[in-house]
This record gives sequence, C-alpha cells and structure tokens, in this order.
Amino acid sequence: MSHVAQAIIDRHDHPASWWNEFWSDPQQHFGPARQELIDIAVAEAEDPSAITIVDIASGNGRYAVPFAVAGMRTTAIEKSPVACGVIQERATNNGVAIDIIGGDFLSLPNEKTNHGFNVVFSSGLLEEVAAEHQPAVVEKVQSITRPCGLLMLKFCLEIQDRGVTVEDDSVLPLFKKDEWTVVRHDVDKHVRESIATIDFENRLRTELIIARKST
Ligand SMILES: C[S@@+](CC[C@H](N)C(=O)[O-])C[C@H]1O[C@@H](n2cnc3c(N)ncnc32)[C@H](O)[C@@H]1O
Repeated sequence: MSHVAQAIIDRHDHPASWWNEFWSDPQQHFGPARQELIDIAVAEAEDPSAITIVDIASGNGRYAVPFAVAGMRTTAIEKSPVACGVIQERATNNGVAIDIIGGDFLSLPNEKTNHGFNVVFSSGLLEEVAAEHQPAVVEKVQSITRPCGLLMLKFCLEIQDRGVTVEDDSVLPLFKKDEWTVVRHDVDKHVRESIATIDFENRLRTELIIARKST
C-alpha cells in the first residue's frame, strides 16, 4: 500500500498540503460524476445559464466541470491549490469558465460566495471534517443556499479501513422542517464497492440529502 493510501486511511481534517500531494497524482480520482445529479441541478431552470451553482470541496472538478459544461454559472470552492489548478485546466480543456475560489470553505467570508447560489452542491466534504465541526459545515452550506434554492449534500457515512466518518442520522435532523423540504434522501444500508480509482480497497456507505429551502 502506498503512503498516500495509508494516509487516507489515517486522515482527519487533512490540510491542503496533503490534498496537494493527492491531486498531484493524475491517477487519483473519485470516479465519474453521477449524471442524475447533474440532471437534477440543471432542471432548476429552463435556461441553465440562469442557474448559479457552487461545488464545495470540488477536488478535481469532477462535478464542477460537468455543471459548467451543462451551461450553469459555476463556482468551485476548494482548499487545495493543486486541485484548483486541475479544475482550471479541465475547465479550459472543456471550453468553459468556472469561478474558482481557493481556500477553506469554513473560513470563507460570505461576500466571497456572492451571498448565495440557486444550487449548492457538495460531495465528499463532510467526511473530511472532524465530527465536532460537521454541524458547522451543514449550517454554512445551508446559509449560502438562496431562498427556494436546492441543496445537494452527498457524503460517506462509513469507509472500510477508516470506519464511521459521519454518524448515521446525524445530518438530516439539522434540516429544520420549517426552513427545508427534503425532496430526496438516500442512505446505503450496507458498504458497497466505490467507483473511486484509488490504490487500495475502498468499500463505503454513502448518504445523499437533497432539500429545498423555503422562501
Ligand atoms: C474526498 S475529496 C472530494 C472531491 C470531490 N468533491 C469529489 O466528489 O470527487 C475532498 C476534497 O475536499 C477538499 N476539502 C476538504 N476540506 C475542505 C474545506 N474545508 N474547504 C474546501 N475544500 C476542502 C479537499 O482538498 C479535497 O479536494
């Protein structure tokens, strides 16, 4: 097992330097984007260019790039400068523009997020954050979702070799019923093979919450 593989198993709140090393290796990625999630986002308006969407903890732009290719006005937030470079390169190669904000999402001032987006998307962030900070992440992604906007939150509950990353039933209660309507909630009951192409066994259990903010 490579040192990157060992480190990913040991990780808790990895610094940007760790992710820089990870994304420096073009072999490392988390698989292709799920087309149905892109379709759900783009269905928010007849004209995709009317949709402002943010991909938080974008990594190599696995979702940000297809969001932009689908015509949505796309922002990517990512703390690893190397990953930001990869997103930029992939955007250029696809002939699209992405507003890339480099930095830690949690300490990002609200002005930097244009005071909100029609669609807020995040895949693979919550499990990277220590359990005590996870509610703050959820609160912040909620706060940058505009009224009537859609929040799509995808995260790993459990990863083989790492154990529990996000406690079962800990995130949904953070969606207050008078502010949010949950339109989709998928939870894996059992660990399954990941589509990630990383160099060690990676079986996991994920949760997806899609919720609409009220006015
Ligand atoms: C597991 S990867 C997921 C990447 C991508 N979203 C995907 O689904 O393929 C986690 C990414 O989140 C970034 N990240 C972790 N914590 C972050 C934070 N607080 N602010 C911004 N980016 C963060 C890491 O640099 C890394 O690129």
